[in-house]
Amino acid sequence: MLEVKSLTVSIRNKNGKIYPLVKNLSYKLNEGETLAIVGESGCGKTMQAMAIMGLLPPNIHVTQGQILFNNKNILQLSPKERREINGKEIALVFQDALTALNPVITIRQHLLEVFKARTNLTLNEAENKIKELLEQVELPQSILSSYPHQISGGQRQRVMLALALTLNPKLLIADEPTTALDENTQEQILNLIKKLQKAYKMAVIFITHDLILAKEIADRIFVLYSGTKVEESLAKELFSNPLHPYTYGLFKSIITKDTPKGIPLFEIHGSPRGRSRFYGCPFKDRCKKSSRVCYKFVPSLEELRPRHYCACFWAKSIDSQRRQND
Ligand SMILES: Nc1ncnc2c1ncn2[C@@H]1O[C@H](COP(=O)(O)OP(=O)(O)O)[C@@H](O)[C@H]1O
Ligand code: SF4
Ligand SMILES: [Mg+2]
Repeated sequence: MLEVKSLTVSIRNKNGKIYPLVKNLSYKLNEGETLAIVGESGCGKTMQAMAIMGLLPPNIHVTQGQILFNNKNILQLSPKERREINGKEIALVFQDALTALNPVITIRQHLLEVFKARTNLTLNEAENKIKELLEQVELPQSILSSYPHQISGGQRQRVMLALALTLNPKLLIADEPTTALDENTQEQILNLIKKLQKAYKMAVIFITHDLILAKEIADRIFVLYSGTKVEESLAKELFSNPLHPYTYGLFKSIITKDTPKGIPLFEIHGSPRGRSRFYGCPFKDRCKKSSRVCYKFVPSLEELRPRHYCACFWAKSIDSQRRQND
């Protein structure tokens, strides 16, 4: 259904220089599938989603690649054709529901607006649809007369989901939809997305910095580092067999109920920014396994185990040694 092919998204800085934020990214998504994209803040998760939505900021552009949606390169569509697809075919929910919603109109008006602008439904039909949508996102009908700031963060995220579902999209992109919420509400929203995905038979791209959430929701996970895909596999396989040192680091920094208090958490030192990300392996300056080759060459993404891909010289040699010993 969706195929992102060699996508590069770049920024032009004040001096006119162009830097890639997402580099040569490729992935596929099948109908009804859930893919999680995981990586720490600033690694390009949102920018690649904005490229799909055609909503990149003015100084940021797709400089290479294709985005095929049902075999059509949506990067070549006119703005009018794009608007047709957004909402009807692909919908987006993101972290900051409060800024996405208009503070001076009620929830009812938000939902009615979409039906008025995008469908031929009569007012009565739209009202009935809204009633149904609220039931699906498990919100009381009384919320319709509220303004966005009068409801809780979890309720706002449910409203965002209702808005995203108004036109029956085939693909939902959820960009950190639970990040601003407390743990209980997070869990509820995650379960709701799972339920809605089944009911609407949608594919979902779930973007998160949290591997545990990714595992809870996704069939497949890929790990993005500094705009580059460094590892991809089925969710279960990634948890039983992480291969890339960065993925190791993400696992080690996971806080669970069992993490003892007072013990320093594991940290991946440094940041993904800085000039050295432009040559060799992007992770080399932070990697405990780096060697000379990592400074000279860029590791390519290779299938090291069945349907498990990793871009790392060390992982490749360790994994082949392991298999020889098996
Ligand atoms: N509007 C913008 N102008 C300039 N740089 C931006 C803008 N938005 C994002 N960036 C930069 O692009 C990179 C990727 O950002 P983003 O996709 O938002 O990361 P993530 O969603 O993974 O946290 C970051 O280094 C960020 O600083
Ligand atoms: S290629 Fe080298 S620097 Fe990059 S992750 Fe692997 S070992 Fe570390
Ligand atoms: Mg983001």
